[in-house]
Amino acid sequence: MPTKVVVGVQWGDEGKGKIIDILASNADVVVRSQGGNNAGHTVENKNQVYKLHLIPSGILYKDALCLIGCGVVIDPKVILGEIDGLIARGVSCENLFIDPRAHIIMPWHIEIDHLSEKQLGKDMIGTTKRGIGPCYMDKAERVGIRLVDLLNEKLFIEKALKIGEQKNKIITKIYDGNSLDIQKIILEYQTYAKKLSKYVKDVSIEIYNAFKQNKNILFEGAQGTLLDIDMGTYPFVTSSHPISAGVCIGSGIGPTMIDEIIGVVKAYTTRVGKGPFPTELLNETGEKIRKLGNEFGTTTGRPRRVGWFDAVILRHSVRVNGLTSLAINKLDTLSGMDEIMICKNYKKNDGTIIDYFPPSLEELAECSPIYESCKGFTEDITNITSYDELPDNCKLYLKKVEELSGCKISMVGVGPSRSQNFIV
Ligand code: GDP
Ligand code: IMO
Ligand code: MG
Repeated sequence: MPTKVVVGVQWGDEGKGKIIDILASNADVVVRSQGGNNAGHTVENKNQVYKLHLIPSGILYKDALCLIGCGVVIDPKVILGEIDGLIARGVSCENLFIDPRAHIIMPWHIEIDHLSEKQLGKDMIGTTKRGIGPCYMDKAERVGIRLVDLLNEKLFIEKALKIGEQKNKIITKIYDGNSLDIQKIILEYQTYAKKLSKYVKDVSIEIYNAFKQNKNILFEGAQGTLLDIDMGTYPFVTSSHPISAGVCIGSGIGPTMIDEIIGVVKAYTTRVGKGPFPTELLNETGEKIRKLGNEFGTTTGRPRRVGWFDAVILRHSVRVNGLTSLAINKLDTLSGMDEIMICKNYKKNDGTIIDYFPPSLEELAECSPIYESCKGFTEDITNITSYDELPDNCKLYLKKVEELSGCKISMVGVGPSRSQNFIV
């Protein structure tokens, strides 16, 4: 198997966890390279459901090396809880390693995430409030604490005291919040350091060694292309690079080491949090899809906003990620619709038609979708195991998706479990 990257091509929650779990059956190494526990990746197999936030979805295969790269932000309490939870369910975490350069989420990041969202009021981003943005802010400002710093007792105390004091000023003076007990935080994090030390390894070196031995390497994207801090709907984005290029920076590899880039996409569109969404369905159809697709956030439980498939977004994602194929999920959720719509272009208020995703949110707000209608299907497709068995209207829908997106479909998902997926 060549080196494969799996990315989300919409606003996250496309079913990346399931696709990684399926592809990981042939992988020697599975790597997470950006984001943090804002991600929620669901893996279902043998009637067991796992919701993973930081640990790569390859962890269920006991021989796969699972790596967390330097681009991921780590909440030590969350990852230790996730490790304990997996071990309690009989899943080994012996092959899990985190890069020492990864930045650590501190309690002040979480506090500031809450407070800044509160202060933004109706203009809030709708973050997961896991401290992700504030942690990446400190990384860019060069005042962050990395895992390697946490493991150095003297350096950690020095840094935590200095940074903590400054953060308390921000919390109390700018946000009118309550100051944090820095000494207590230091003690708490020292216990995490002890527990985490056995999971530390230079991820860049590990991947490179595996690459030289022709091992199968799989990169697990988190979030989605439209949440990318540059290529997404800024400022309603996350603070990292979920696009394929983010894999190189966030794991310490070069672009020449990547062979395939698979974009995971839902057969319709969803989004959690605020921001523009041209094909959003604020009607009964939207409600129906939310209910049938069980569209509630894996991390925060928030209801996901739902809309029709948007090929303008797909063309944007095909280009910015350099996708080699698509893995489409949740086709089963559309069963029972009389008509299924695909947005092919946008029409602006002045009548201009555009075929690209605009960088300006003001321009995007002026865009209404131009739809192409596809005939619906009523059959239950959840037990189908090959493309040929799909109802004709389903095949026509997939053909339309390929035609309007400019990318071929390589995998189809008709249910949440490992077995409900087939190769095209
Ligand atoms: P991720 O963040 O991209 O890994 O996706 P999430 O796990 O947050 O959300 C995807 C949801 O859809 C999960 O509940 C999956 O179990 C479920 N899912 C994935 N693929 C399919 C599919 O083909 N059909 C159905 N019905 N559910 C799916
Ligand atoms: P997975 O990997 C869906 C969204 C949040 C919010 C914005 C910024 O499961 O697909 P943040 O906490 O990152 O600062 O929030 O990004 N968001 C996600 N939406 N799936 C995710 O991850 C997300 N991670 C962040 O809802 O709109
Ligand atoms: Mg998710």
